[in-house]
Amino acid sequence: MTEIQQDAVLAQFREYILGPLRFANVLSCFELGIVDALRQEPASGMTAERIAKDTGLRVGAVEQMLLLPVKDGLIDHDAESGAYRLSGIAQVQESDLARVLPWMDMMKEVCLRQLYWLTESVRSGKVVGLKELYDFDGNFYEASTHYPQLQKAWGGMMDSVTGFIDPWFHEHLEVPQNAKVLDIAGNTGLGAVLAVEHKRDKDISVACFDFAEKETEALETFREHGVADRCSFIGGDVFEAVPTGFDVVMIKHFLDMFDKENVYRILTNVYEALGVGGQVVVLVPVYPEDITRSSSVDFFPAYFYGCTMAEGGPQKVSTYAKWMEDCGFEVTKVMAQDIAAMPADMIPVHGIVCGTRTQS
Ligand SMILES: C[S@@+](CC[C@H](N)C(=O)[O-])C[C@H]1O[C@@H](n2cnc3c(N)ncnc32)[C@H](O)[C@@H]1O
Repeated sequence: MTEIQQDAVLAQFREYILGPLRFANVLSCFELGIVDALRQEPASGMTAERIAKDTGLRVGAVEQMLLLPVKDGLIDHDAESGAYRLSGIAQVQESDLARVLPWMDMMKEVCLRQLYWLTESVRSGKVVGLKELYDFDGNFYEASTHYPQLQKAWGGMMDSVTGFIDPWFHEHLEVPQNAKVLDIAGNTGLGAVLAVEHKRDKDISVACFDFAEKETEALETFREHGVADRCSFIGGDVFEAVPTGFDVVMIKHFLDMFDKENVYRILTNVYEALGVGGQVVVLVPVYPEDITRSSSVDFFPAYFYGCTMAEGGPQKVSTYAKWMEDCGFEVTKVMAQDIAAMPADMIPVHGIVCGTRTQS
């Protein structure tokens, strides 16, 4: 190995080592109210003394916490006047920041804490962090029904991903007039609401299917969005039984949570619950054919193994299509998001795979 190659590898290790510290420093600047304080004086900016007064912090602490954001161009520091101003952060639209901040909360509350036990989780096939932190045996989604702080930190990020990607999903999804749709693993009910709203012309109704504990929140979501007459909730476990009587089954952000064997169990249960002509429509994070083209592999393996399931992880979209065929469906659509058109912060790359049950 040449010296240059060795230097590049060492620099890569430095980036790994620094990642969690950089993350914590920047998130704290938001949590401490420093960013909000600076928003009040966008033009003249504020000195460290003034920020300290507004936020109740020590001047020295403000100066230290702002060194990295200044170095990274998020905040500007005028050495002469001593004023700090939002610079990079001021360039980001509110709606984009509203997508980024829930990710940061989730990283702190869910990932940083549990990933301490990633190695043990991979070894044991159990989410050891949940056992250590909450004395909980089971996966993150089960735990989130017992611990509101987990649901809050994770649910905000999940809804922000769903709110962002569902318009793309519905743009590529065709459903029959008056279709009865089942949204498997529908979580807060937001997916059901968005389906009804995007398919207004089709007059569809959507049942959100998830653990029974999610019912109250889902019904509240339906009421808030004024679609309680079009949406309903069914409590249950997809491995036990999938409700019957639906024309279309949506499975969004769910198959990636499981190993192949469990994905087959889910798809087979869905196949059996659908009548001939029934459709399954899957929206799922996927790995691009060339994994260097996105940040998906930087996130999902550690997230699924250490934080949520101790199994699973996305596959390539072609793999999901093959698995769907193996479970009896005729595959009718396979597509992936255009990475070049995604916002720069976006981590998951999504795929859509649709299939129809053609045999009785
Ligand atoms: C990643 S979220 C998907 C949320 C939603 N589909 C979306 O796209 O926003 C996974 C959901 O699966 C639910 N879930 C996990 N295991 C389940 C099971 N065995 N049966 C039914 N729902 C399950 C969880 O409660 C959680 O709401």
